[in-house]
Amino acid sequence: MGDHGGAGGSRRRRTGSRPSSLGSGGPAAVAEEVRDSVASPDVGAGGDARALARDKNGDARVGSGPLELRCHRLQDSLFSSNSGFSNYRGILNWCVVMLILSNARLFLENLIKYGILVDPIQVVSLFLKDPYSWPAPCLVIVANVFVVAAFQVEKRLAVGTLTEQAGLLLHVANLVTILCFPASVALLVKSITPVGSLLALVAYTILFLKLISYRDVNLWCRQYRAKAKTASVGKKASGDSTQGTISYPDNLTYRDLYYFIFAPTLCYELNFPRSPRIRKRFLLRRLLEMLFFTQLQVALIQQWMVPTIQNSMKPFKDMDYSRIIERLLKLAVPNHLIWLIFFYWLFHSCMNAVAELMQFGDREFYRDWWNSESVGYFWQNWNIPVHKWCLRHFYKPLLQRGNSKWVARTGVFLASAFFHEYVLSIPLRMFRLWAFTAMMAQVPLAWIVGPFFQGNYGNAAVWLTLIIGQPMAVLMYVHDYYVLNYEPS
Ligand SMILES: CC(C)(COP(=O)(O)OP(=O)(O)OC[C@H]1O[C@@H](n2cnc3c(N)ncnc32)[C@H](O)[C@@H]1OP(=O)(O)O)[C@@H](O)C(=O)NCCC(=O)NCCS
Repeated sequence: MGDHGGAGGSRRRRTGSRPSSLGSGGPAAVAEEVRDSVASPDVGAGGDARALARDKNGDARVGSGPLELRCHRLQDSLFSSNSGFSNYRGILNWCVVMLILSNARLFLENLIKYGILVDPIQVVSLFLKDPYSWPAPCLVIVANVFVVAAFQVEKRLAVGTLTEQAGLLLHVANLVTILCFPASVALLVKSITPVGSLLALVAYTILFLKLISYRDVNLWCRQYRAKAKTASVGKKASGDSTQGTISYPDNLTYRDLYYFIFAPTLCYELNFPRSPRIRKRFLLRRLLEMLFFTQLQVALIQQWMVPTIQNSMKPFKDMDYSRIIERLLKLAVPNHLIWLIFFYWLFHSCMNAVAELMQFGDREFYRDWWNSESVGYFWQNWNIPVHKWCLRHFYKPLLQRGNSKWVARTGVFLASAFFHEYVLSIPLRMFRLWAFTAMMAQVPLAWIVGPFFQGNYGNAAVWLTLIIGQPMAVLMYVHDYYVLNYEPS
């Protein structure tokens, strides 16, 4: 494969799986050959002049001997890059079949070794320690207080009963409380489980990002209104108010704010694009996917990941490096599979279901991150709601204040690293900074992968960091949690 200057030196691009014209076979081909021989009287004359006839694609063919004996022509093998052949669909299918077969073997091996470990009832204990105490759902309900607080501040800023500085101060106090309050509850309340605590903290983090966006957009509207006033345009703040669109400060209603709180986006807008109607079949499919993939993820975690992690504790305790690496590679497969299912479940099934219900029009929740040839491309495309928020409310404002791209990018990853650590360390009640380090490592990783690995190699490098990096972090956290909670001192 890849040898240049092949037999025919043909530069013709061919994407089909069959050469388009063969020397024999079928009346049409014979008729074509007869036409060729008429057009080129030298061909088949048996003389010294080895004249070349051309087929309809312009390929040269050696013409000698009776027509029915001609079955060769100048052409490259399919694996030669000169052949221009690019249809490897069958090979892709082969990869899928091999993948299914090898995983079926793993599945069977797992079943023989451990029996059936899937237990849906056990999942409930991950969310509830004490059936009479529901701290995580209570925390989420209390979050409404912060939504109302932000709304009241914006209302007063809009009518001018609050100065911008006082408004900023109140917003900052509200936002800091949004982060500190659930963290203290998660650390102090004994009946909260790590999973319940993690979900509550994720909900608060989302609220934190949404309320920053809400505050920023309303501030931009006020600034625009002030500019419009000084230019005595006298128009409403968000531009010419056309029929059916909302302009500042008419957007300041609970209905508008709660629409944004539940919408699958982190960036506030006065007039979100709306889909014309709820498509029931589409919604039903997404809901079924949500249900199915939730079950599948739970089953894979219980059946495949948990035993592998449990078996990794001893090599970690003994500091047996070769066994640790073997465990890491073993964990990489189920971990990666579950992560891919999680991606589809969250970004396609759940977000589309919520968007369909709310008739939220912008469905770009992810882009083709799987084609990433660089680390930067991956972060730009895998989680669009977070990336959009980062660009709009963090990265671009930092650039506009005169910071360099490097500073702005490092700042974004620093914030992202903080939140990754926040939603993991607090529920586990241990501070190890593995998630923080993993996120911060993305900045130097982008420098390494970018210049040294390009094209398919870059894509493979991104996949490798995803497949190996995540189980490494999982093992670190589980090991430390195990040592902290279950190891006799
Ligand atoms: C840091 C991050 C925001 C950088 O994004 P990027 O797309 O590589 O940034 P770029 O330098 O290419 O610029 C992006 C935008 O800024 C604009 N921009 C560049 N310089 C600018 C300047 N001086 N002033 C204003 N805008 C500028 C660009 O025009 C571009 O705008 P567009 O998106 O509208 O085309 C991105 O990597 C990111 O989102 N990282 C964090 C992701 C994350 O943590 N996700 C968590 C998922 S769990």
